[in-house]
Amino acid sequence: MLEFQVRPGSWTTAAGDWLVVPVTEPVDLAGPWQELNAALDGQLARLIEAGDLTGKLASIIGLKGISGIASRRLLLIGLGKSNELTVQKLDKALTTAARSISDKKDLRVAVAVPPGNLGEITPAQFVKSAAVAMQVGSLGQDLYRTEKARFPFAAIEFTGTDSLNDVEAALTEGKILGEAINLARDLVNRPAQEITPVGFAKRAQEAASAAGLRFEEWDQPRLEQERMQSLLAVSKGSDQPPRLVIVEYQGAGSNSPKLALVGKGVTFDSGGLSLKTPDGMLTMKCDMAGAATVLGAMTAIAKLKLPVNVVGLMGLVENMTGPAAFKLGDILTARNGVTIEVLNTDAEGRLVLADVLSYAVDLGIDRIVDLATLTGACVVALGEDVVGAMTNDQPWCDSVMSAARTCGEDVWQLPMYDLYDDLIKGDIGDIKNTGGRWGGAITAGKFLQRFVGGKPWVHLDIAGPAFASSNKPHREAGGTGVMVKTLIEAARQFGKK
Ligand code: BES
Ligand code: MN
Ligand code: ZN
Repeated sequence: MLEFQVRPGSWTTAAGDWLVVPVTEPVDLAGPWQELNAALDGQLARLIEAGDLTGKLASIIGLKGISGIASRRLLLIGLGKSNELTVQKLDKALTTAARSISDKKDLRVAVAVPPGNLGEITPAQFVKSAAVAMQVGSLGQDLYRTEKARFPFAAIEFTGTDSLNDVEAALTEGKILGEAINLARDLVNRPAQEITPVGFAKRAQEAASAAGLRFEEWDQPRLEQERMQSLLAVSKGSDQPPRLVIVEYQGAGSNSPKLALVGKGVTFDSGGLSLKTPDGMLTMKCDMAGAATVLGAMTAIAKLKLPVNVVGLMGLVENMTGPAAFKLGDILTARNGVTIEVLNTDAEGRLVLADVLSYAVDLGIDRIVDLATLTGACVVALGEDVVGAMTNDQPWCDSVMSAARTCGEDVWQLPMYDLYDDLIKGDIGDIKNTGGRWGGAITAGKFLQRFVGGKPWVHLDIAGPAFASSNKPHREAGGTGVMVKTLIEAARQFGKK
């Protein structure tokens, strides 16, 4: 079990396997940095003089075999110019630091907390970001490797002489956020053979009970009773039975408004009869990332005891090509009575979300956010690192996007002009499940809008950022846990209204 603690005192007396010390650009050896330099017999000054220690953003220098301070090793991590520092840059730098030192088992890490603010970053924000980064950066995707490349830290200690009074709450929060992000990453990183709809539901039940969430699981007969024919159609080609998982947290009065978080949980997307190419299918265990994000956020919202009511809904199916698979040309009647023409069985996420969104509306919720690895078109439009947002309610979208900004996560809004509605108009039924080649992210959003009953709703297409194809210094390939923090922050803001 990972230990966290705050230890007031000089950086030089923190006894870790590593002492992580942030420096800004240009490096100013004042205050605790000066003390550290003196304890190291002027080594920092020599590094600066040689041009090796610059403080440039996310630059790292690891010093081993040092003497003069209580820690065995020192990691200097650049934060760039302090007046240009943002939460996103800080997160990147600190995660880079964690990734660069998590190569051994059971390491104890001391993190030096700078005295006072660094630009807009307060000591509390620094501690929160570092607590998240130390957890996320030290967990790899090599879950099944005998020889792991990365090991979770055994202990993380925050050290500094001042400003440590108000960081305890930030530390608790960072710990909870890190756990939530790593839960989402873990679920995405596990293969589809393990994270089936039933397998996901099992993990959700464990996580819900640990966090104190009400848990409910619907099996196939219940889904049939509840007229979820659109979701069920996607499941027909698979021998894995579908599930709907509902987790609920009540942190405010029963008359207070309720937020619904809805996640796409396609545990494997082969494309169905509109079969994907091998390349396109390769990473499709990630197609339940929306559901994993919702689950991660819900556990954190409960553990943080936020004064808000939130329900999380996860539609779980596998999209396969078995003999009973749904077919092109099929007409599906969704829970809310809308009839859907299936033009492409690979546009399955929207079919799953349609019924789950309708159910959320029937629950009497006041606001909705849905998350889905929904379209390749969104990745084409915005690239791999940016989330696409679509909405029927600008103020609600503004507040979700402002939560994202606070958390340092990149979200860009796409337009929802009326003209896009024409693209999904049906010939035989009410709507088609694809809108053709152009504007594919938006026509998918327009499809979903038909199921939100006019409630304020934001759709987040996370097809790009939910799953990283390669390692970067600041993040591991695989599940990223993108939007977990944003959902928690959005719920917090919603609870204040
Ligand atoms: N799960 C995919 C979208 C996806 C693509 C997620 C790449 C992550 C990375 C989704 O179900 C899908 O197949 N969408 C189709 C829609 C099309 C058939 C209208 C797509 O984007 O090609
Ligand atoms: Mn698909
Ligand atoms: Zn999909």
